[in-house]
Amino acid sequence: MKIAVLRERSEGETRVAATPETVTKLIGLGADVAIEAGAGEFARLPDAEYAKAGASVGTAAATIQGADIVLAVRRPAANAIAGAAPGVLVVATMDPYGHEGDIAALAKAGVTAVAMEFMPRITRAQVMDVLSSQANLAGYQAVLDAAVAFDRAMPMMMTAAGTVRPAKVFVMGAGVAGLQAIATAKRLGAVVTATDVRAAAGEQVESLGAKFIMTDALKDASGSGGYARELTKDEQAAQAELVAGHIAKQDIVITTALIPGRPAPKLVSRAMVESMAPGSVIVDLAAERGGNVELTQPGGVATTANGVTILGYTNVPGRLATSASQLYARNLVSFLETLIDKKEKKLAINWDDELVKATVLTRDGAIVHPNIKLDAGASAATPAGAKGTQ
Ligand code: NAI
Repeated sequence: MKIAVLRERSEGETRVAATPETVTKLIGLGADVAIEAGAGEFARLPDAEYAKAGASVGTAAATIQGADIVLAVRRPAANAIAGAAPGVLVVATMDPYGHEGDIAALAKAGVTAVAMEFMPRITRAQVMDVLSSQANLAGYQAVLDAAVAFDRAMPMMMTAAGTVRPAKVFVMGAGVAGLQAIATAKRLGAVVTATDVRAAAGEQVESLGAKFIMTDALKDASGSGGYARELTKDEQAAQAELVAGHIAKQDIVITTALIPGRPAPKLVSRAMVESMAPGSVIVDLAAERGGNVELTQPGGVATTANGVTILGYTNVPGRLATSASQLYARNLVSFLETLIDKKEKKLAINWDDELVKATVLTRDGAIVHPNIKLDAGASAATPAGAKGTQ
């Protein structure tokens, strides 16, 4: 059983799907592991470390040749895995919505494509939850990026030269990324407030020592699987009214709001951005899914006429490539452990397992996932408990 890990081909992708640590674990599962030279370069994982862990390091062609399993961060193109064994299992974040044609190409190539981001949020699968492992790091990095872009200190400082007031940080969306952003901003000494549309988030925000901002006009918008549902027009208006006055007084706003299978909800309007003082910073962690902020430039930094900096980095976990790779690679190993017969040293997939059913997109030449429709186009149907990559 051969497991292959290629260099990521996607623009700006710095992460890698296996680390020397997980190579050792994969070998322990009975696999031969092949890594393309340079695969860990941006995560600062040198080829020599992979080789020391027991992987063979070589060209892309040698790496993929005869592979039974391919591990990747982003969906590889079908032609990148030509030469793998028939029916090769490709495990990655597949980002299928709007890319149904690419999924169909994988199916046609005989690939069994597994979308890690479709992993159900049940206790057994927590160790395999790539959305959580990556969002947690993104929430942390968002605060550091904001602190660097901010021209003032974050904590209160009482010095002989006078007192520096603490920065006010507002976190919109208190899920995995938002809660980590709150914790990180608190650690840096900021005064932190947060909002979310799920009532359950309030208690979690307060347990971190931040203030929860909510209005009675906004009903609990918990959806299925721990995610939020889309707000009605009236609810959106109530939320906008709630946050408009608050944002004007903030130094830093971090937005993390997402709804499964939908574009990111727009939470911060142009007028709200313009209400902020010069030097304020907004970090839009939803930039990759269209952004929560009206003026975000996905993938870049925008500075408004009134001097507000908006960071719209996509792939924020990739800004912490080493940690993100480490956690992502461990998520993959945890899933593979359920798919491999260690004694026989081969794949032994239980197709009835709910984790397999939820994540397998293609098999035996066809798209098999109920939420992926080849004719769906860019405005794909809303999936249950599924969403794009981080
Ligand atoms: P997410 O990435 O889909 O969304 C981020 C946050 O944005 C969520 O808290 C959501 O409620 C919020 N949001 C959506 N629309 C909003 C709006 N209009 N205004 C303000 N906030 C809005 O969600 P994430 O972070 O992946 O997970 C959400 C929750 O799922 C977690 O807090 C947790 O309760 C649960 N969860 C459960 C897991 C498990 O049981 N294994 C694992 C991870 C998360």
